[in-house]
Amino acid sequence: MICRRVQAEVLDAAQVAVDTFRLRLRAPEVARAARPGQFVMLGPLEDGALDPFLPRPFSIHRANTDGDLEILYARVGRVTQDMTRLAPGRRLWLLGPQGRGFAAPGAGELWLAAGGLGVAPLVFLAEHEAPRRKVRLFYGVRSADRAVPLEWLRRSGVQIDLATDDGSAGARGTAAQLLEAAGPPPAGAALASCGPWKFLRAVHAIATRWNAPLELSLETRMACGMGACLGCAIRLAAGRRRVCLDGPVFDGREVFG
Ligand SMILES: Cc1cc2nc3c(=O)[nH]c(=O)nc-3n(C[C@H](O)[C@H](O)[C@H](O)COP(=O)(O)OP(=O)(O)OC[C@H]3O[C@@H](n4cnc5c(N)ncnc54)[C@H](O)[C@@H]3O)c2cc1C
Ligand code: FES
Repeated sequence: MICRRVQAEVLDAAQVAVDTFRLRLRAPEVARAARPGQFVMLGPLEDGALDPFLPRPFSIHRANTDGDLEILYARVGRVTQDMTRLAPGRRLWLLGPQGRGFAAPGAGELWLAAGGLGVAPLVFLAEHEAPRRKVRLFYGVRSADRAVPLEWLRRSGVQIDLATDDGSAGARGTAAQLLEAAGPPPAGAALASCGPWKFLRAVHAIATRWNAPLELSLETRMACGMGACLGCAIRLAAGRRRVCLDGPVFDGREVFG
């Protein structure tokens, strides 16, 4: 695994939905090496005014060859609250790209199921794969005001179906229900998903019924983010795994059997 610890500069920080923010960073070495499904550990420089700001893992939401990298994050606790105050020009350290990303096997259609902020790594995958295959994104959020605007992704050819728990936009229900109603996909299709554990289990059950390959991106608490501390180890159907090193993307059968 090649990973880099670099200084990244904040280019732009914006709120994009309720409690949801996008951070655009300049980090050329990491952005150019990044693959969909990988993540970065983000922390303050030693002189950081945001101290204590312990390094935290975030999926790579977008990355380009110009050297820009984006993170899409939810404000859930102390660090992500601090992150909302980051201003352009601020420097952070960043470790990455970390972990095993999506393989997205085959050349058939790619169907993606995102539960809430699980959309973060799937957007990178969708953007990466759209030039060579048909990509559909089934995206579920609690309510319309929590949906991240993805019009630019639609314009790049990705078909997006939205679901909300309260029916305030798109279909009422979850992205797993939307996925199930749309299927089964054409022969040769592959699936990928990211979201809460219960949601991933539902998507896995659907993919199993369809006999379609499925990759799942998992989240755990992490400390080192590089395989050294075992802080992220979890027991999956296939045995004990370190999410930061063996994942965060796993074959669905490895996770649920
Ligand atoms: C590989 C990976 C990729 C991730 N990608 C993203 C991303 O793209 N966008 C994003 O917003 N978040 C992502 N996360 C989660 C993110 O790391 C946490 O939300 C963040 O560390 C919370 O820090 P905090 O100090 O704000 O919250 P804390 O104060 O540490 O926690 C606040 C609350 O959030 C819960 N929480 C914290 N971390 C997690 C977690 N990993 N899973 C479930 N619950 C958690 C805590 O139990 C607590 O209830 C990712 C995590 C991993 C492991
Ligand atoms: S976070 Fe330390 S081993 Fe995974």
